[in-house]
Amino acid sequence: MTNLNNHPESVSVRVPATAANLGPGFDSIGMAVDLWSELTVTRGPFEVTIEGDGADVLPTDEGNLVVAGARAAYNARGAEFPNLKFHCVNEIPFARGLGSSSAAIVSGIVAGFALQGDGTDPHEALLLAAEIEGHPDNVAPAIFGGCQIGVNAGDDWITSTIPVPEDLHAVILIPDFVGETSEARGVLDSEVSRADAVFNIGRSALLANALATGQMDLLRYATEDRLHQPQRAAIYKGMNTIIRAALTGGAHGAFLSGAGPSIMAFATEREYTVAYEMTEAARLHGIDASTRVVKPTTRGAHVFDPASTAATGTGD
Ligand code: HSE
Repeated sequence: MTNLNNHPESVSVRVPATAANLGPGFDSIGMAVDLWSELTVTRGPFEVTIEGDGADVLPTDEGNLVVAGARAAYNARGAEFPNLKFHCVNEIPFARGLGSSSAAIVSGIVAGFALQGDGTDPHEALLLAAEIEGHPDNVAPAIFGGCQIGVNAGDDWITSTIPVPEDLHAVILIPDFVGETSEARGVLDSEVSRADAVFNIGRSALLANALATGQMDLLRYATEDRLHQPQRAAIYKGMNTIIRAALTGGAHGAFLSGAGPSIMAFATEREYTVAYEMTEAARLHGIDASTRVVKPTTRGAHVFDPASTAATGTGD
């Protein structure tokens, strides 16, 4: 039972998938989408059990990021970390550029605070999660929901929400291989030219304004990038072809989701045509992939009652 007035025996948390970067917003902009993983933490001898995506490869020891997240929440209160059982139900595809690591960290933090009888202060959770993750573009939308700008200000992290049009859909092509974020960051240049900086600065601002004002025709340009996608094209063969196929199929814009390998397209109609065109382009490059059509979600990580979710089929 979850009782936030006491120290509950068990807490369940849902956390959304997130797409980082969104084209030009490298390490700075991310969006939560309506695709959720769940974590239940119960008092008892230490254990990590996992169902769903990544269950066969994720660590079941202290190295699992749900444990790191929960531990951070206890450390933040100066409290001793108790014995806990962690059960993960992962619907967010593992290591595909959809924020599975951030979801694990954030779910652990939210559960850790709830087990101490606290609600989660989203800003405090952001500081803890960004410290573990190193950048805010997945953890901020995972915590706050919606489309979030995240910037570092010394010891602090600042976030601001970009409103997103109601009718926007995200079409996600999810290759059947995992991406290594460390490899995908390793191919990036450590310095950028002024021309590339200007290219991305303008497009990041354009992206925020296009989403906030519903100017879909701007998204084609507003999702372009020169800071990470050109370099990552070398490890994700077919990436540029798949992005072009999404645009040909009717998407407003398309980009590498996070550090990849998933590719996300924004569409307000013809979503399944876009998904088909992306899948065909991937197939021509020998890439097997699945697709999901989802909406952005304004909801971030939250404690839920599994009993009522089972009854209603929704975590809301
Ligand atoms: N902004 C990050 C990157 C997201 O592109 O490397 C993945 O952690």
